[in-house]
Order: sequence, then structure tokens, then C-alpha cells
Amino acid sequence: MLHLRFPFRRPRPQGLPLLTRLAGRFRLRGLDQADAPAVKAHFLRLSPEARGSRFHGSLSDEAICAYVDRIDWSQTYAFGAFVRGDLRAMSELAAYPTSGAGEVALSVEPQLQGKGLGRTLILLTMLAARRVGMSSLHLFYQAENQSMRSLARNLGAKATRDGGSFDGVISVRGRKD
Ligand SMILES: CC(C)(COP(=O)(O)OP(=O)(O)OC[C@H]1O[C@@H](n2cnc3c(N)ncnc32)[C@H](O)[C@@H]1OP(=O)(O)O)[C@@H](O)C(=O)NCCC(=O)NCCS
Repeated sequence: MLHLRFPFRRPRPQGLPLLTRLAGRFRLRGLDQADAPAVKAHFLRLSPEARGSRFHGSLSDEAICAYVDRIDWSQTYAFGAFVRGDLRAMSELAAYPTSGAGEVALSVEPQLQGKGLGRTLILLTMLAARRVGMSSLHLFYQAENQSMRSLARNLGAKATRDGGSFDGVISVRGRKD
């Protein structure tokens, strides 16, 4: 077989740059109750459009703060991406009480969108869900949310449309061996 090489092609990224163009420019860590003020500040910095997509409707600043105050951190697995110390993107996985499933919501501040942070955070969340014994994750997103549609498709989600929104279900079941 003939293997052609094109030396003028840009080399394919390797390692973390395969997932995100911001590799090396952010720090990832789990979030807990002590991070609630940073989570509020992050949500409040979302644009009206991003806020609407994240919360499936327009929420006032007060409603966002009340939402964060209501998070049950004992049933929530959250990860954050920090840029120069500020929380700029996060995933929030809330475990359903009985079914072995959970629901994930993602938020990336507008100036950092489209650079792979959402992709990186959902992959991390999937691994965490699997480690705590969940079998599936639900992603709820609006039909016009092209980034979420792309992410869901790439992760093999089975998406069901209900009016203007989708419920994408990702299997995170471990191998049976
Ligand atoms: C949806 C969101 C989390 C995606 O995160 P992101 O960091 O911007 O997205 P990524 O750069 O990781 O890209 C994810 C996918 O979307 C695609 N994408 C990114 N920006 C896009 C755009 N403007 N239009 C179409 N597709 C886009 C990417 O190509 C990628 O697809 P791929 O995996 O097939 O290559 C982020 O845009 C966001 O916070 N939006 C507002 C809140 C929201 O919608 N939350 C989801 C509902 S809970």
C-alpha cells in the first residue's frame, strides 16, 4: 500500500490539545459547597443567551443565586475550569435519587466558547458518573443549540425531541467482565 506524506500539512494536535484549544491555559478541579460564590459569579457572567440555554429560560440574578443556594452538593458532582483563578466554565451532574441515572448541565462563558472546554468537561463528567456507578446521563438542550447537538452526537447520545428541546441520553455503563 502506498503511504503518502504531505509535509506542508499542519501536524495533528496530540494530548490535551486534541480536546481543547485552551490546553495549558486552565486548571480543572472538582467543585464543592465552598465554591458556591464562584459558581454564582460564573453564572451571573453568562450572556442572556447562554443563561437562557443553561437554565432553559430567562432567570433573574436573584433566581440564579437561589438556584445555587438550592444545590444539594451531596448529590452533585461538579467540575470547574479556572482561568487565572476565575471559574469560567463548569459541568454540574445531579444524580437522580433512584434510577442510577443523572442529569448534566454545562456552562462556558461566552468568550471561551467553541474552544473545547464543554467537550473536556463532559468527558470528565462521564468518567466520574461511571466511577460512582451511574449507567446513563441525560443532557437537556434546545433544538437550536448546535454545540450541544454536536457534543451529544459525538458522545453517541440517543436524543429524543420534545417540542423545541432534546433529551440526549448517554450510556456510561461500565464493561461487564
Ligand atoms: C453548549 C456549551 C456548553 C458548549 O461548550 P463549548 O466549550 O462552547 O463547546 P466545545 O468547544 O467543547 O464544542 C463542542 C461541540 O460544539 C461544536 N461547536 C462549538 N461552537 C459551535 C458553534 N458556534 N456552532 C456550531 N457548533 C459549535 C464544536 O465543533 C464541538 O463539536 P465536535 O465535538 O463535533 O467538534 C457552551 O457553548 C455553553 O455554555 N453554552 C451556553 C449554555 C448551554 O447551552 N448549556 C447547555 C445546556 S445545559
